[in-house]
Amino acid sequence: MVQSTLKSLSLSLSLCLSLSLCLSLSLSLSLSQECTDGYEWDVQSQHCKDINECVTIAEPCQGEMKCFNHYGGYLCLPRSASVITAPEPSSQAPAGPPPQSNEAFGSCPVGYQVQGESCVDVDECILDLHDCQPSQQCLNTVGTYSCQCPEGYSKIGLECVDVDECRYRYCQHRCVNLPGSFSCECEPGFQVAGNNRSCVDVNECDMGAPCQQRCYNTYGSFLCRCEQGYELGPDGFICNDIDECSYSSYMCQHQCANEPGRFSCICPEGYQLLGTRLCQDVNECETGTHQCEEGQTCVNIHGGYHCTDHNRCQEPYVQVSDNRCVCPVIKPECRELPFSIVQRYMSITSERSVPSDIFQIQATSVYPGAYNTFRIRSGDDNGEFYIRQINNISAMLVLARAITGPKEYTLELEMVSVNPLRSYKTSSALRLSVFVGPYAF
Ligand SMILES: *[C@@H]1O[C@H](CO)[C@@H](O)[C@H](O)[C@H]1NC(C)=O
Ligand SMILES: *[C@@H]1O[C@H](CO)[C@@H](O)[C@H](O)[C@H]1NC(C)=O
Repeated sequence: MVQSTLKSLSLSLSLCLSLSLCLSLSLSLSLSQECTDGYEWDVQSQHCKDINECVTIAEPCQGEMKCFNHYGGYLCLPRSASVITAPEPSSQAPAGPPPQSNEAFGSCPVGYQVQGESCVDVDECILDLHDCQPSQQCLNTVGTYSCQCPEGYSKIGLECVDVDECRYRYCQHRCVNLPGSFSCECEPGFQVAGNNRSCVDVNECDMGAPCQQRCYNTYGSFLCRCEQGYELGPDGFICNDIDECSYSSYMCQHQCANEPGRFSCICPEGYQLLGTRLCQDVNECETGTHQCEEGQTCVNIHGGYHCTDHNRCQEPYVQVSDNRCVCPVIKPECRELPFSIVQRYMSITSERSVPSDIFQIQATSVYPGAYNTFRIRSGDDNGEFYIRQINNISAMLVLARAITGPKEYTLELEMVSVNPLRSYKTSSALRLSVFVGPYAF
């Protein structure tokens, strides 16, 4: 009645641990008199029946281990483990119960499905077999799946909540929190750098800043500047021409002409520019621009020139040299006249400050013991000149009053020499033509 043929227990186990760890397998077998270890005689069915040690033994597994009942014994495995069993050997006698098709011991474990002869992972995410929240992302893994928060979200309770990255001062200037991310913004005049966080200065000058003339980039902005001769308009962009001529009447000696960005000085006819603002008389006699005729002498004067006839001596004078006339003593009418007359020309500017020395007269022939006096014989009807004696052989013609040109004077200056010892008196004259120019230069 008791069929007790002890046969070697052929138990083929393959463990598949989700942690990919091999953990201790505790296989405990107990002997029965009637049936093989782990089986008991079932009176009803008259067969040996597997004992569910997980139920019959108090605390069959230690600690966190989970009890899995098995034919003829039980297994203590980590809670995360699932077990794939080989089909029960048909030789097993007495016949055990038909293999149970529970989750842990089906043809494929949970999270796998049969494909041909092997088990393959089920993608719970694609097949919508997960229980992730709408705010969560399903992430399939081998044998299972997990619910994760997208980047930029963190799990609070069951939901994924946007992380406010702006709290972490990621941006140099301004931070804008966005669902799942953030972006940095920069103040005007700056742009976000390559690292997306720093702000770098924008060179507005390279990007069409509206400066009319010069543009200078500054940190965060730009400045317009103008070329010399221009000033920045109230808008800060436009350059307006400066009217330098309006600054002062001293910009030019004669006339100022404003031009875009600059000014220039203009000189009257007969003058040329000396440097930038002064006017200089043109010497037409030297430049050859005069139109004196042959037999005339060109005399340069301020602002022009004068053509003089070669000294033509008037009766009773006779010409002795280029500009000298002499009254021969043998002529009776010469007694009361200066013995010699010399012609000279000079030019002065208009409105000279007075008194001013303008011409020095020097005796050419000196008689020992004689003393000389000088006077203006004619040509000074309005008393604009006087003579200051320097010593007994020279004197200075002084301009006494300011004269406004153009004007022309012909002064006859006389030097009288007296030798009291020999009761001898003689005089000579200087005919001086004074041209007063039209300008003070
Ligand atoms: C900056 O942002 C752009 C566009 O969003 C991205 O393509 C780039 O990789 C980011 N650069 C860095 C350094 O994060
Ligand atoms: C100048 O006059 C003085 C007398 O006043 C006389 O002694 C002197 O010799 C004169 N000099 C000349 C160079 O004529």
